[in-house]
Amino acid sequence: MLPHPPLTSHYSSTEAKPAFVNRLFDKGARYYDGVVDWGFLRSGAFYRRWVQERHGLKPGMRVLDVACGTGLVAVEAARILGGAEAITCLDPSEGMLEVARSKLPATFVLGRAEAMPLPDGTFDFLTMGYALRHVTSLEETFREYHRVLKPGGRVLILEVTKPSGAIGNFFFRLYFGRIYPALTQLFTRSRDARDMMRYYWETMDACVPPETVLEALRGVGFIEVRRTRMLGLFSEYAAIKP
Ligand SMILES: C[S@@+](CC[C@H](N)C(=O)[O-])C[C@H]1O[C@@H](n2cnc3c(N)ncnc32)[C@H](O)[C@@H]1O
Repeated sequence: MLPHPPLTSHYSSTEAKPAFVNRLFDKGARYYDGVVDWGFLRSGAFYRRWVQERHGLKPGMRVLDVACGTGLVAVEAARILGGAEAITCLDPSEGMLEVARSKLPATFVLGRAEAMPLPDGTFDFLTMGYALRHVTSLEETFREYHRVLKPGGRVLILEVTKPSGAIGNFFFRLYFGRIYPALTQLFTRSRDARDMMRYYWETMDACVPPETVLEALRGVGFIEVRRTRMLGLFSEYAAIKP
């Protein structure tokens, strides 16, 4: 199952998607932190720490942050754990990893969620922040999550989800589809940054509904699969490996 149909105005087929997405984030990496900081009203660090605490991250756990990007989730995990030694960060974009490496002394791995070069049964807590739309298969990705987690290990996937109501949807479209990409270009004077945020919106708009994500998690054997919604906008998908 794809997280969204191929966006053929950007790439010809699902096979061509990873190279397109990689280029997008390599080029946008230097702008990413600034853009998401004001775009989410400076709430990002607080929210990324709070959500991990609420979903059970505790000192002593081994953590894998998939699609770590510039390290925004991992930095907050390190605050909770009291250090970054037990954190592994994985991402396919060398540009994003370069920024993340400058922030924390974690272990960094170049790779994709669908085929992670990591051993079985290693991690207690696995996070993925705002990147599920970029994988090429939900099942392959979740099978990998199940494989690398220890029994009892937890997965926490963060996403922004389009509101279902007409009014919420109207403002969501207006902000993420038009205002956010336009302000991104105005503030950064970078088309690469604008394109990154435009694509961000297009993938959110085309994304499968939350129930499909929950079904795919259950389908590979996760239990206690649930979605918590915050402010009608943020989805927190959580599950446990039995
Ligand atoms: C919007 S950024 C999210 C960064 C960070 N997790 C955060 O919370 O801000 C999306 C990240 O997903 C990464 N990504 C794209 N395709 C991926 C894949 N197939 N597997 C893992 N990560 C991927 C990109 O390189 C990028 O760093």
